[in-house]
Amino acid sequence: MQPILTVEHLSKSFTAGTDHIQVLRDVSFSLFPGEIVALIGESGAGKSTLLHLLAGLEPPDSGRITFFLPSGTSYAMEQGTEDSHAAFRARNIGFVFQYHHLLTDFNALENVLLPALLLGTPLATAQQRAMELLELVGVAHRARHFPMQLSGGEQQRVALARALMNTPLVVFADEPTGNLDHENAEKIVALIQDLKQQLKRTFLIASHSQFIAQHADRILQIHDGIVEEL
Ligand SMILES: Nc1ncnc2c1ncn2[C@@H]1O[C@H](COP(=O)(O)OP(=O)(O)O)[C@@H](O)[C@H]1O
Ligand SMILES: [Mg+2]
Repeated sequence: MQPILTVEHLSKSFTAGTDHIQVLRDVSFSLFPGEIVALIGESGAGKSTLLHLLAGLEPPDSGRITFFLPSGTSYAMEQGTEDSHAAFRARNIGFVFQYHHLLTDFNALENVLLPALLLGTPLATAQQRAMELLELVGVAHRARHFPMQLSGGEQQRVALARALMNTPLVVFADEPTGNLDHENAEKIVALIQDLKQQLKRTFLIASHSQFIAQHADRILQIHDGIVEEL
């Protein structure tokens, strides 16, 4: 099967003061369409760093990240610029952060439809799709609520809907249940499984939760900068 993403020999280090931290060492793996992959590893192992590199939010030291689109074209990140990464991300990548990162001055519906407006989708079309997604994630009844008026679980549902707004090739989620109690965390994982079935999206979910790992199709573990499949 053709992968949607290949990662080849990716390395990344940080220098903080006199410390040199090698976060990723020669990391290679692929993601395939329609799978949920759990990215596990202890706190500080490099999960967020890897997701940021994949989303083009930060440059690697070396290595290649290539996306393969259904249209038959591909996007090789090492050939792009920050601007081209941003344009690619807007169309093809959904990102869910641990702390939802919703815009506090906009209500749930507006948060979800904004990514489509930025791509030039007409407001009425964007509104309709955003409402459908809010329904799909189970918070349509909170559409006019502002983030501060939502519970943590509801905020993450809105963040998931927002990540899905432009029907991305892949959704990267960085500890999406990290701030939720067990019950709400389970609900978000069940929701991601539903979304995978209904929308045929691909998810890479960083987490140190056993629960997410148990419900993934595949598990990638980061340890000492090395990523291996469990
Ligand atoms: N901008 C940065 N500057 C220096 N060190 C960083 C930076 N970002 C992350 N790190 C370090 O890289 C390591 C991996 O961090 P991170 O990817 O956030 O881990 P995880 O998400 O698995 O908890 C940690 O040791 C962290 O302190
Ligand atoms: Mg992290």
